[in-house]
Amino acid sequence: MVAEEPVRSSRGFADLFDLTGYTALVTGAARGLGRAIATALADAGAQIAALDVIDMSELESDISEAGGKCVSRTADLGGLSADSANDLVRWAEDATSNPATVLVNNAGVIRRGPALNTSVEDWNTVLAVNLTAPFLLSQAFAQYLRAKDSAGSIINMASVNSFQGGVEVPSYAASKHGILGVTRALANEWAPHGIRVNTIAPGYMSTDLTTAHRNDAERAAFMLKRIPMARWGTPEDLAGAAIFLASDASRYVTGTTISVDGGWLAR
Ligand SMILES: NC(=O)c1ccc[n+]([C@@H]2O[C@H](COP(=O)([O-])OP(=O)(O)OC[C@H]3O[C@@H](n4cnc5c(N)ncnc54)[C@H](O)[C@@H]3O)[C@@H](O)[C@H]2O)c1
Repeated sequence: MVAEEPVRSSRGFADLFDLTGYTALVTGAARGLGRAIATALADAGAQIAALDVIDMSELESDISEAGGKCVSRTADLGGLSADSANDLVRWAEDATSNPATVLVNNAGVIRRGPALNTSVEDWNTVLAVNLTAPFLLSQAFAQYLRAKDSAGSIINMASVNSFQGGVEVPSYAASKHGILGVTRALANEWAPHGIRVNTIAPGYMSTDLTTAHRNDAERAAFMLKRIPMARWGTPEDLAGAAIFLASDASRYVTGTTISVDGGWLAR
């Protein structure tokens, strides 16, 4: 990824989105949105270094059957230290034999319940996985890129709860408002180094994270009525935004959010 190079018309528009030669470190890649993002980036040519606390063998075999390359490592990002973040970033290069230029901070958790009863344990868990781990991984990744004098792209996972308080998800809303602020702060600070930092803000997507939500018939019906596109999102709906933000197609885009929410925030 060379941030300053002019776009040559002979490359054609598709080449703008070509990730051949890239390695992307994707957290929470075993299932849901992270799995779809890892698959999309691999489809666009990137090698994937996948992290999750659970097994990722299905993701690995899907990507390799499609002709791509994916390596995986299990890690609990809830208790991440600066040293272990450094170790994970270096592992992405060692395991793929290719420098990493994309980091997707996707892993996330939610704890539902009224603020009056939110335990400090739940609060700390959500903040650790959704906010502290992305910061530490971004910091380690930027240090790694700086040492190589290399450009890179960081994609953080925001949410409609980065802009709205949500219903009985106080720690989640805090973490998602926080990731928006961190994204803007890092984008400002690292733009001179060619390191872009953006967020994708998914709306209400069909994944394990929202099962409880979708199983509550009354709530689900209310949500569907409020979504202008009148359907839940699918993990694959994020493919275009992820490839765009990872690739040279977004070379002048930093510190911003792409909402992929069927119009939810516009309502
Ligand atoms: N599904 C939605 O509607 C929605 C909407 C907005 C934002 N998001 C965000 O998108 C991201 C992915 O959500 P999802 O819906 O795919 O959720 P999911 O629960 O289906 O998947 C989350 C993944 O993160 C992994 N993970 C959780 N804790 C971890 C830890 N401590 N260490 C390492 N990995 C861990 C899980 O094992 C899982 O594979 C999250 O950041 C979430 O907040 C989701």
